[in-house]
Order: sequence, then structure tokens, then C-alpha cells
Amino acid sequence: MGTIRTHYLIRRGRVLSLLSLILACIVSNSHEETIRRNQFPVEFLFGTSTSAYQTEGAILEGGRGLSNWDVFSHVPGKIETGENADTADDHYHLYLQDIDLMHSLGINAYRFSISWARILPRGRFGDVNPTGIAFYNSIIDNLLRRGIEPFVTLYHHDLPQELEDRYGGWLSPLIQEDFGYFAEICFRRFGDRVKYWSSLNEPNLYAHFAYLRGMYPPGRRSEMEPFTVLHNMLLSHARAAYLYRSRYQQKQGGSIGIVVNTAMYEPLRDEAVDREAVSRALAFYVSGVLDPLIHGDYPPEMRHHLGARLPKFSVEESKALNGSIDFIGINHYSSLYAKDCINSPCPTGESHAFLGFVYTTGFRDGVAIGEPTPMPRFFIVPDGLEKMVEYIKTRYNNKPTFVTENGIAQLDQPGQREVLLHDNKRVEFLKGYLASLARAIRNGADVRGYFVWSLMDNFEWTNGFRMRFGLYYVDYQTLERTPKLSAKWYRDFLTPNATDEYDDLLVKRSRVANWRGVEVDI
Ligand code: NOJ
Repeated sequence: MGTIRTHYLIRRGRVLSLLSLILACIVSNSHEETIRRNQFPVEFLFGTSTSAYQTEGAILEGGRGLSNWDVFSHVPGKIETGENADTADDHYHLYLQDIDLMHSLGINAYRFSISWARILPRGRFGDVNPTGIAFYNSIIDNLLRRGIEPFVTLYHHDLPQELEDRYGGWLSPLIQEDFGYFAEICFRRFGDRVKYWSSLNEPNLYAHFAYLRGMYPPGRRSEMEPFTVLHNMLLSHARAAYLYRSRYQQKQGGSIGIVVNTAMYEPLRDEAVDREAVSRALAFYVSGVLDPLIHGDYPPEMRHHLGARLPKFSVEESKALNGSIDFIGINHYSSLYAKDCINSPCPTGESHAFLGFVYTTGFRDGVAIGEPTPMPRFFIVPDGLEKMVEYIKTRYNNKPTFVTENGIAQLDQPGQREVLLHDNKRVEFLKGYLASLARAIRNGADVRGYFVWSLMDNFEWTNGFRMRFGLYYVDYQTLERTPKLSAKWYRDFLTPNATDEYDDLLVKRSRVANWRGVEVDI
């Protein structure tokens, strides 16, 4: 009897410890998974992000002119898959349906870009295209009708080809005039309803990919041209910001910012030079864009290392740049290891002035910095977002910040639609990065919004349609959109069981729409 009882007690003990283990797992998992909407401020913007060339298609419709990407993607060998975005998601025709998808997700903001060539098919050398204006008017009105804030990018990598042909696009200071002209038309025509403007998407990445690596149009490979291009982009921003602030901001009540590409860096080796490489990479790549717009000049780190090679701003230019952003947008996907190339050797061809003489890689001794993704330089390192936000907060005196892109790709696998729809990895990715962002906010960072890249699968530049970043799966034959698991997760995250707070949110949203004088049907 005693033995049986002892045995029973031991078994009971085992069962109990097994149960507590399971419980502990659930608790620890749920600890990881407890990211909730209410950990963010009520007025926080939660959205999805897209860009014109990657989604719209209809490149020859509605009076649109050709863009640099139309031309480039048709050159054999430029796009890995041989594809182009002539049709893409056909968002040009399906935008109303797409706005319904957004509404069903419960997002309160949508970041999209305006195709310059749809508004000004020939830049300032031709007329404004009324069909283009009507298209974006309709997008904006339909977003507002559903309580969704339009968060508009003026330039997301696509330039009217005419400007490239006439004077070499971003390589010429003439682009500043053209960009200002384009920006002002947008402020005038859309600014009564658009309250968030980003002048340029990722000028740092564009200068790097298009003028150093030759991967984006115009496909140039130069050590110094990226500096010229960035210089012209910054001055173009300053011009747009000046026009906005002097003629529109007061009556329209919106804000203007810029979006910078960011990766967080960790030292490759536990050595001082690599720790310095981390600071240098951030100073050149991220602050090379932001310092001029906040302090009126390039970072001291760039001056120190580049001397006379770094372009100079005149006194007037510096004045125009200084304080020319109301907010900072960061696109953030990954962390990388950084290795110094000034005091120690780097792989051939991997030390570039534009990147601060730093070599970056995802691997240390063959081990990845985080879980790899199908994008070769994107690794899952959620903490990197918190660190990046902390960097911005510290260096820029806690300027209002938006995470304008964050997401993960799936590699397209023909015949694997069902697998792609079950994107558990994306759900885990979003939970991890949002938790990291929530920590940064708890630590005092003034972050005001977060946008998933992307609403739906789209044309991933040189990767074509092979990389699927969407919350919605797009069948490129039928153009049908299907929610992935992550879309459902995002919806549940954004619209948990109705609570007082959630009701308040809805009331707030309808106020947004009412306030703009748009009929509300939410
Ligand atoms: C940043 C770019 O802005 C966007 O166009 C691109 O598709 C995503 N990163 C993913 O690479």
C-alpha cells in the first residue's frame, strides 16, 4: 500500500512538474506573445506601406509618362527574374478593392507613394496630367472615408525618364527645381487632406544602389557619384520643405519628413576598431541624411574622414536644410555585423567611402547574426529596431519618428500557395519587432507610427516578384488577393475585442474623416 502510494505520489509529482513545465512554456511563450495594441499610444498610427511603381502597373494608361524603372526593368539582365512592373498588382485599377482590404485590417494609416510620371509625365517640361491628379484624389478620399490617414511619399525610386535623359536626373542640381515643382503641385492639389508628407524614400539606399552598385537605374558604379546624388536629394528635400512651410503648412496643418533606410550594426570582432566601425556606419549611412536636415551640415564624422571630397553646402543651402524635417521616417528590416576597413583589410571591393569604409556582413565565423530570410542581407534581429530607435532618439533629441517600413519576405515557390498563405514566420517577425518597438517607446522614444511592408506582395525591384513581402498574397495571373495568416494576425492585433479604448479609437477615426469634410461610412 505504502509503495503504491509512494509510487502514486512520485507519478503525481512527475505529472505536476510536467504540467508546470507546460505551464511555464505557455507563460514564457505568452510572455513573448503578449504584444498588444494597447501597449502603444491610442493615437499611434498603425498602417501598411506600398509604393507606386511596385504596385500600380498601368504604366501606359491614364496619360502617365515613362519612368526610369519602366525603361530599366525592360533592359535584359537588370531584373533577376526578367520581370517588370508593367502590370504589377494592377493597383491602378484595383485600388478601391485594396482600400477595402486595408479597412478590413483595421489600419488607421496607409503609406503610399505618388508616381511622379503620372502627375508630370515630362517633369516640368510638360503639363500636369489631370487623370493622374484624379487617381490620387480618389485614393485619398476613399482612404479618409474609411478613417485611414494617407501618409504620402513624393519620391519612391521612380523618376520621369525625361529628367534622366535631359540632364542626368539626380546627378544634376537641376533636379532640385523639378522636384520642387512636382512637390508643390502635390501640396496644392492634395495637401488639404494629406497631413503626412515624406519627401524622399531612402535617399541613402538609392544613392548607394543606383550609383555605387549599379543595381538600380541609371545603373552606375562610381565611388563619388553617390555623394553628388545624395547632395542633390537633400537639397531637393529642402526646396520642397521650404515650399511646403512657406505656402501650405500653416493653412493645411500637416507635416513633412523624410524616410531613411536603416540597418542596426554590431561589431564583427570584439575590438575597438569594429566598435568604431559601427558608429561610423551609422554616422555615414543614417546620419549622412539626417544631420544635414536637422543641423544643416553633414556629420562631423564624414567631414573628418572625407575632408574636401565631401560636397559642401553654401550658407543659404545650409540654412534651408537646417530644421527642414518635422519627423523622421525609418525603414528597418535587419541588423548586420560591421567591420572596420581603415585600419584592417576588408574583402576586395568592399570598402567604400560612401559607406564609411565599413564592410558589413550578416555572418560572424559562419554564424548568422539572426535567423536568415530569403533576402540575403535581411536577418531577423528584433532588438535591432529598439537600438535603432534609441540611436535616433539620442542623436536627434527625440524627434518624432515613424517606422515607415518593417517586414519580411517569403521566397515565391510555384505551386506552394497554401504554404505561403500560412506565414507563421511573418507573424512571429511582427510580434518580435513590435515588442522591440514597444520597449523603445516605454523607454521614452517619441515614435508615432508603424507601417508593415507591405500590404500585399509586389514587385521587389531587382528581385522581381520572387520576394513576397505582403500581408496579402497576390496571384499574379488572376490578380486575386488572399489574406495570409499575418493579415489575420494584424487585424486581430489592431482590433482586439471591443474595449472602451477601441471604441474611443473608432470615434477618433470618424472624427478624422469628419474633420476633413469627407462623408464617413465606417
Ligand atoms: C525598402 C523600400 O522602400 C521598398 O521599396 C522595398 O520593397 C523594401 N525595402 C523591401 O526591400
